[in-house]
Amino acid sequence: MKLDACSLKSLSKMELRVLSAVEMGMKNHELVPVELIYSISKLKPSGFRKGLRQLLFNKLVHHEQRGYDGYRLTNLGYDVLALNTLLCRGSISQIGDKIGVGKESDVFLAQNEKGNKLVLKFQRLGRTSFRAVKEKRDYLKHRKSASWLYLSRLAAQIEYRCLKAFYKAELPVPKPIDANRHCICMQYIENSIQLSDATKLVNPFAVYEKCITMMEKLLKIGVVHGDFNQFNILLDEHENVFLIDFPQVISINHVDAEYYFEHDLSCLQDFFAKFDLDLCSVAQLSFQEIKKELDTSEHAKFLNLDEDVDENNSEDEGNEHMMQSSVNNVENYNDEAELDYDVEKDKCYSDIVKKVRDEWKVSESKTSRLRPNMKQSRKARQEIKSVNSFF
Ligand SMILES: Nc1ncnc2c1ncn2[C@@H]1O[C@H](COP(=O)(O)OP(=O)(O)OP(=O)(O)O)[C@@H](O)[C@H]1O
Ligand SMILES: [Mg+2]
Repeated sequence: MKLDACSLKSLSKMELRVLSAVEMGMKNHELVPVELIYSISKLKPSGFRKGLRQLLFNKLVHHEQRGYDGYRLTNLGYDVLALNTLLCRGSISQIGDKIGVGKESDVFLAQNEKGNKLVLKFQRLGRTSFRAVKEKRDYLKHRKSASWLYLSRLAAQIEYRCLKAFYKAELPVPKPIDANRHCICMQYIENSIQLSDATKLVNPFAVYEKCITMMEKLLKIGVVHGDFNQFNILLDEHENVFLIDFPQVISINHVDAEYYFEHDLSCLQDFFAKFDLDLCSVAQLSFQEIKKELDTSEHAKFLNLDEDVDENNSEDEGNEHMMQSSVNNVENYNDEAELDYDVEKDKCYSDIVKKVRDEWKVSESKTSRLRPNMKQSRKARQEIKSVNSFF
């Protein structure tokens, strides 16, 4: 299935319901037992089978036998869930070409009903080494483990929160439009190139000054970009600069904040060295001096970067409500912020799933493979219901 709005609109309610059920199951399972997906979806066996088969055909879910019949979302499946929400809300109406592939993201052009050009950025943490991501980023805090779904969503959440705060603070960043799951939607900066691709500048000194001013403004609102370089600065035809890409932003209170600030500054200076400028004539930025002047606790609060990001899901709860109505109320649908692994719940689930599997008549025949023996599994299904109400 190609990532476009038309194919999304052709996704049936049933398929969407099964897809959402797989996502919910992934809160506690890397590979979700088919019985659990069936139970969460609350579909009739025939509808469930049809929906699941179609999702497999379209590569929205991946099937594996790991001692049990299990499914997980593919990147595309997770994209479809996010896009469906953005479409339902009217934030986008069309998806266009891929315009960027980063180490940890895919960037697409999109459009809304009014014809405004937009950008969709899908976080793909886990594309690089999963362990490297966990070591590099500070997302996990006290958690011992997390899935790629959880990490990607968290990265998007942080990036979107920064984008909104920076836009409000009148920094030159794309206008934030919407966000859902691991996807953020923002204004498309037309006729722009990455600063790294600019071989000639009409006024390189002015461009450098604009970049330094941006770094100073960021410090003054209590953050360090952490990846401030020529690849994350867009330059339009009038040599205006726009800052993008914020999942690695850290609070000025972070222990390594000064190190990252100095690193950002030297990257920028290295890039401008080729333009043969007298960089000393620009006011020097001192991390310590700016920090001293700030009430850093207030500024950090502004962005919530010193808080555990999981505590700040109120907006996304709204998003999930949209999702709920769009799949005809998949009951108990909840925020994926709970995606992190919970041993107690998982144990509970595994016991019940085992019970259901034992009680199901698993036939070799293709058609009856997913059909439970209704009488025998009633008790177990009731137990699943009680666990579902946990969420
Ligand atoms: N709002 C935007 N307007 C125009 N182009 C954009 C916008 N956002 C991103 N892009 C394009 O997509 C590219 C990748 O975006 P971004 O840097 O945010 O992703 P990334 O995953 O960090 O990529 P990388 O790993 O290469 O840094 C940008 O270099 C730019 O060409
Ligand atoms: Mg980038």
